[in-house]
Amino acid sequence: MDKAVLTYDTLTHEMPIIEGSEGEKAVDISKLRQATGLITLDVGYQNTGSCTSTITFIDGDRGILRYRGIPIEELAEKASFSEVAYLLIYGNLPNREEQQAFSQRLTQNSMIHEEMLRFFDGFPPTAHPMAILATMVNSMSVYYTDYYTEDFQADTFDLMAASLISRIRTIAAYSYKHSIGQPHVYPKRDLKYASNFLYMMFDSPVNPYIPDPDIERALSTLLILHADHEQNCSTSTVRLVGSSMANLYASICAGICALWGPLHGGANQKVIEMLEEINRNKLSIQSCIESAKDKTSKFRLFGFGHRVYKNYDPRAKILKKYCETIFRKNNYQDPLINIAMELEDAALKDDFFVDRKLYPNVDFYSGILYRMIGIPTNMFTVMFAIGRLPGMIAQWKEMHDTDPLKIGRPRQIYMGNTLRHYAPMEER
Ligand code: SDX
Repeated sequence: MDKAVLTYDTLTHEMPIIEGSEGEKAVDISKLRQATGLITLDVGYQNTGSCTSTITFIDGDRGILRYRGIPIEELAEKASFSEVAYLLIYGNLPNREEQQAFSQRLTQNSMIHEEMLRFFDGFPPTAHPMAILATMVNSMSVYYTDYYTEDFQADTFDLMAASLISRIRTIAAYSYKHSIGQPHVYPKRDLKYASNFLYMMFDSPVNPYIPDPDIERALSTLLILHADHEQNCSTSTVRLVGSSMANLYASICAGICALWGPLHGGANQKVIEMLEEINRNKLSIQSCIESAKDKTSKFRLFGFGHRVYKNYDPRAKILKKYCETIFRKNNYQDPLINIAMELEDAALKDDFFVDRKLYPNVDFYSGILYRMIGIPTNMFTVMFAIGRLPGMIAQWKEMHDTDPLKIGRPRQIYMGNTLRHYAPMEER
């Protein structure tokens, strides 16, 4: 086995090099402090791996993304969202019997407890749907206690996973109905995942939801593209919370809260708000590019840049092409897509972005497709959460399948006051 050697002062410490199935290499520092008294410091974990995983592979330099080894391009084109959810959680695409059983679990767990509907009365119509989603998901551990066990058991896990994946969709649709003062719409047992969500969102006693296969496929594609992304901020949060043996609902709730941030899942809402501002104020593309480069300006080119991708985010490439195709097919017009493409074109010719390898990420075009579907802007991050849920669950399960389960507890370097003592008021 390859080794790395750390020499410091009179110390020499050998550390094993581990290699992943795609040739990635890491220095295993798990014995470093015990052997040398030293720890590592890596603010933002830019160089630090938290785990080994078999779920998702990303090659940021080559713009590659695969779920359980299958390229995202193939899954986005050919798979259903429930197939991708099963693939991520259980490791392989389901056969016919497995797919039927999984779909049955999703159907049987699509309604939320009637008493949970009363929670919505406590939310103002203006409540951000991510706040509602996090609250309601955590509350599921109160109502679905038969699935919720302290120790991890396979049969309860299957029910909890299906319960979350199915009910998150219902909660999201109900939060939208609450915000527009319409009665919520119960899920139907004969509709597929994305269709059922759109039915619950847009059906009403006076305006029936009219299914549109293009719209339903666009939503499934968006959910598939968001389904997992290895150890991003929110999924790492799910692992960290889950490592304390907190139940799956509480762990997912924490992940939803982390996803909300505008630097992360909240960026899709910020992208549209940015494009709307440019459109409303007729801002010039070049002035926006200059502002994005100006450290003193508050303007940031949301939807651009990525911690891992130093090439075009493959999801953004798929979404951009999807927008062009479906807009042309349905003769759909949206000034924001033209602005987005002009921004991208200008940024990718500008040394500031080129030198820093800043490319469009998944959030740059996703909001434009959500707008076409009719999703309100403040629900874009909720849509990200619905898509990402299977990945969060898969990563939580993988952590629980790993023996021994180690609670996550990073170290620090203390930079504060050295020893001093309590001073009475008159001496302060
Ligand atoms: C997601 O991790 C994942 O996998 C996340 C995600 C997933 O699927 O889970 O892919 C989803 O969160 C996508 C990212 C969505 N966020 C945004 O679009 C917000 C805008 N992007 C940036 O805030 C930033 O690019 C991050 C947060 C995405 C990445 O931050 P890093 O890796 O910490 O990089 P950085 O902030 O240190 O930037 C490096 C340089 C800096 O300039 P210098 O100090 O070198 O002069 O690039 C600049 C930054 O100022 N920069 C930008 C920029 N992004 C980075 N400058 C202008 N506009 C931007 N968008």
